[in-house]
Amino acid sequence: MKITKICCIGAGYVGGPTMAVIAQKCPHIQVTVVDLNKERIDAWNDTDTNNIPIYEPGLSTIVAEARGRNLFFSTNVEQAIDEAQIIFISVNTPTKTYGKGKGMAADLKYIELCARQIAKIAKDNKIVVEKSTLPVRTAEAIKSILDNTGNGVQFQILSNPEFLAEGTAVTDLLNPDRILIGGDESIEGQKAITSLVDVYSNWVSKDKILTTNVWSSELSKLTANAFLAQRISSINAMSELCEKTGANITEVADAIGMDSRIGSKFLKASVGFGGSCFQKDILNLVYIAKSYGLNEVADYWEQIIIMNDHQKKRFSNKIIQTLYNTVADKKITFLGWAFKKDTNDTRESAAIYVANDLISEQAKIAVYDPKVSLKKILADLDYLETRTSVENTNSLTSFDNPYEACKNAHAIAILTEWDEFKDYDWQKIYDSMQKPAFVFDGRNLLNSQQLKAIGFVYQAIGS
Ligand code: UDX
Ligand code: ADP
Repeated sequence: MKITKICCIGAGYVGGPTMAVIAQKCPHIQVTVVDLNKERIDAWNDTDTNNIPIYEPGLSTIVAEARGRNLFFSTNVEQAIDEAQIIFISVNTPTKTYGKGKGMAADLKYIELCARQIAKIAKDNKIVVEKSTLPVRTAEAIKSILDNTGNGVQFQILSNPEFLAEGTAVTDLLNPDRILIGGDESIEGQKAITSLVDVYSNWVSKDKILTTNVWSSELSKLTANAFLAQRISSINAMSELCEKTGANITEVADAIGMDSRIGSKFLKASVGFGGSCFQKDILNLVYIAKSYGLNEVADYWEQIIIMNDHQKKRFSNKIIQTLYNTVADKKITFLGWAFKKDTNDTRESAAIYVANDLISEQAKIAVYDPKVSLKKILADLDYLETRTSVENTNSLTSFDNPYEACKNAHAIAILTEWDEFKDYDWQKIYDSMQKPAFVFDGRNLLNSQQLKAIGFVYQAIGS
């Protein structure tokens, strides 16, 4: 099938950047991104592309080029579904917060809603592409809804997991390591795969486009994220051992990373991984394993999450212990709130949990993050439901200026590895703080020797 119109349901961190790049690279295809959230769509349509709702380096330029030409953002979900030959589903699939599988399984209610909507509207054959991370065998559920509630038209379901990392989404999309497309082994399934391969081959070489069956594709996404997260929990486990023994985790990481079988990436010890994928996908994997009675498999992967939670807790405990076992009424400044640099996304950011622990000890938190608003920060804390939103508001504030944020603080905690933190006038910051002045570097970001020479008590993860 020659593809001329694509629709994407969900204008979030995955749908937005992915469709922007497809539109830029395929000017002959009309790409419409739809979302129920009008505020989000309005922001995508803001005349100033610097105000688009998602911050990603390079994204606003691509949106400026393609928007209005062949890239459209709209709340008219029905029309976009009706017109498109390929429909991407990029809605959120959070971990369930209720019922069976609570805290583990993925909540598929948004996916099901999309499937029902597509079934209702479609009047001709469609290719439906799963883009969101989903538990294995979701495609089957989508197919069953489409086939049994639709208007008798044919649907082909493809799994095309997204491997982009936030903060580098644009470069990851432009130069992917691979594109994975899973589809049915039938002739129709293979034709659908070819249609999607043709879209990507506008800028990705054929040898990087892998085709598999649906289940392999779905499971590969979970496996990739589990392996990546496992590396972080492994290095974080070693970081605690380094702190006890006098070894230095950065030196250990460099030493093992030079072994080409291990490789140097994803070996940065940190206050713990965050983001919308790792925890959710591993919990999902654990849930799937348990549901097949594979308890050892489930326990093996669950340990990655246990280690990550421990790392966050360990960081807040270290701050409390070092500050003479009391942080009550002490100002502690967080540099960074996002789950990593170069994104305004805060989902599962370690900062949320560390702040929550410190507020429980009655600390006063001051936050500076170049891309995250106070509204977002407070919403993240409120979501934990540890205390009332008034109590959170009274315990945390944010600043637009990092020097103001650090003034009179007892300690600074680095939660995100934003590059700009390295270039600050640290002497000036030191002079404005309570003494002794502490820096707890949750990212191993700063120059320890420089900070110690100024007079800071400096503690990093893993040394
Ligand atoms: C991840 C996967 O990398 C991506 O392929 C998938 O599509 C979605 O999930 P993302 O969560 O956006 O992407 O960012 P990633 O760069 O993987 O970082 C995740 C978390 O791990 C961040 O909190 C990051 O700071 C942390 N991290 C990463 C470390 O603590 N140490 C490292 O060495 C690498
Ligand atoms: P991700 O990181 O997976 O992209 P986001 O939460 O950033 O997740 O984006 C998902 C988007 O999907 C949200 O903007 C949400 O409003 C949208 N969404 C969820 N369900 C539907 C639906 N049935 N129709 C249209 N949009 C939806």
